[in-house]
Amino acid sequence: MVETGIEGVCYWPAYFDASAQRALVGAVSAVVDAAPFFTPRMPRTGKPFSVRMTNCGPLGWVSDKTSYRYQPCHPETGAPWPPMPDALLALWDDVAAVGAPAEACLINHYPAGARMGLHQDRDEAEFAAPVVSVSLGDSAVFRLGGTVRGGKTTSLRLKSGDVIVFGGPARLIYHGIDRVLSGSSTLLAGGGRYNLTLRRVTPLTGNAAKEAP
Ligand code: SIN
Ligand code: MN
Repeated sequence: MVETGIEGVCYWPAYFDASAQRALVGAVSAVVDAAPFFTPRMPRTGKPFSVRMTNCGPLGWVSDKTSYRYQPCHPETGAPWPPMPDALLALWDDVAAVGAPAEACLINHYPAGARMGLHQDRDEAEFAAPVVSVSLGDSAVFRLGGTVRGGKTTSLRLKSGDVIVFGGPARLIYHGIDRVLSGSSTLLAGGGRYNLTLRRVTPLTGNAAKEAP
């Protein structure tokens, strides 16, 4: 683990080696076969995101003209989200340090030119558990700020296999993707980047709540 200089942000460059990355891509492909990517839209305006999304795990994050929210089913097929791959459950156990499993894994696909504006992850009912994020495929320029919009920001180049965790005082930091560096990885057959974001959605209970940071 590498210190980022930002309290609560932990960075594991190359957490997943090349063969683990290929295995994860296989697991993502199986999720996508069951739960195809959809195009999320901004609440109210209906403007499409430049990334495409799907989810695995008991709950999935969706965004449409109505709201940002978690739900147990795919917004287009109506089917329950596929289960979370074991490698992701194991990652959460290793780095999240809460005694309860992740409930949602959002899978973002960034084709060439896609980006993600600065935002906070705040649709969860539990902020004691961190956000755990995995990068696969092309490198991306990740921007991190503080917990207040408009503050100072820094950037970090996330590469395939990297893991970043933000929790505790950094759980509600603003973050986003300025750009994806096309052609920087050959991991994904069609190019582009996947980001997998693991989160706890519902409140921790019992010992997990007592032990949470
Ligand atoms: C997100 O915050 O939703 C995505 C971050 C990333 O793509 O690394
Ligand atoms: Mn986010």
